[in-house]
Amino acid sequence: MADSNPPTSRPAQGRRFRLRYLAGTLVLLASAIIAFISNNGAEAPSVQEYYSSLESRLGYWLLLGNTRHCGLYEKGQLSPFPVSKAQRAMEEKLYTRLDLKPGSKVMDAGAGSGYVAMYMARKGLNVQAIDITPHHITDARKNVKKNGLEDKISVDYADYHNLTAFPDASFDGIYTMETFVHADDPAKVLGNFYRLLKPGGVIVLHEADFSRNSEVLQDVLRLSHCQNTLKEGGYEELVAGAGFKDYSLDDLTDEVLPLWRLFGVVGYLPYQIFKLLGIQHKFTNVMAGVETWLNWGDGRYISVRAVKP
Ligand SMILES: C[S@@+](CC[C@H](N)C(=O)[O-])C[C@H]1O[C@@H](n2cnc3c(N)ncnc32)[C@H](O)[C@@H]1O
Repeated sequence: MADSNPPTSRPAQGRRFRLRYLAGTLVLLASAIIAFISNNGAEAPSVQEYYSSLESRLGYWLLLGNTRHCGLYEKGQLSPFPVSKAQRAMEEKLYTRLDLKPGSKVMDAGAGSGYVAMYMARKGLNVQAIDITPHHITDARKNVKKNGLEDKISVDYADYHNLTAFPDASFDGIYTMETFVHADDPAKVLGNFYRLLKPGGVIVLHEADFSRNSEVLQDVLRLSHCQNTLKEGGYEELVAGAGFKDYSLDDLTDEVLPLWRLFGVVGYLPYQIFKLLGIQHKFTNVMAGVETWLNWGDGRYISVRAVKP
């Protein structure tokens, strides 16, 4: 029997081939971008692995200008912009909580690219910045030099689990801005801080506290090396256990929401696509931004302050 379909013309065949070629190229390109940006797929990455993935670097650079902490907003504010103004407000909050005289010596434990240290230095404090992520140390040194603050800030490699390079009672204050969450042994870290402080010295910790032990956030915490985050009430017990007194806690959860909402909204669509493809674990920051926002209330953002007697 004769074929009733008209034979496909050569130009139509050519168009179909070009479309298939284009689709194939796009899929390959998307796969290459995903493979390039995503993390290395480690089940429980180290701090350095977490901060070294291109997804982490790009995310912090694009959304936070290479600072790595939340902004502080008026309660009820919707807009997260300008982000940098809110971040300076958070740094001011930490500075106020330290309540130290100009010329005091502080340790910035987990300084990242050095923005918090530079804020403190401009307020008149002398800062010893430490970190364990090599490219953060390089960045911090560059920023300190560029801003002419080398006489106020030293930047060194040091792990807050092992601070033997620093003498007893040599600091007036020690602070963490979203770094204590990474501690493998929080009690040991607080013990080190206690030893380094002079009597009357203060600690201020600005940290996320996923105190309700949310199951849904456990993946996020493990993938961002925050698996030792404390259970509700944990901070007070731990800080008292290290010998500190005059514990005070400021709950800032409502005041950091605008930025987390931004992370949630920006990441929502990509996260749904990654989930469909089953690769959401390879995009820790997208996952963290969206899941934290969707499960707001399973954690808090707190400012803890205590004094060495
Ligand atoms: C979320 S970033 C915050 C950086 C900075 N405080 C800021 O607000 O921009 C956490 C930082 O803590 C550092 N960090 C994590 N564990 C550490 C440790 N054991 N000792 C020193 N620094 C640590 C990380 O390398 C990272 O730079």
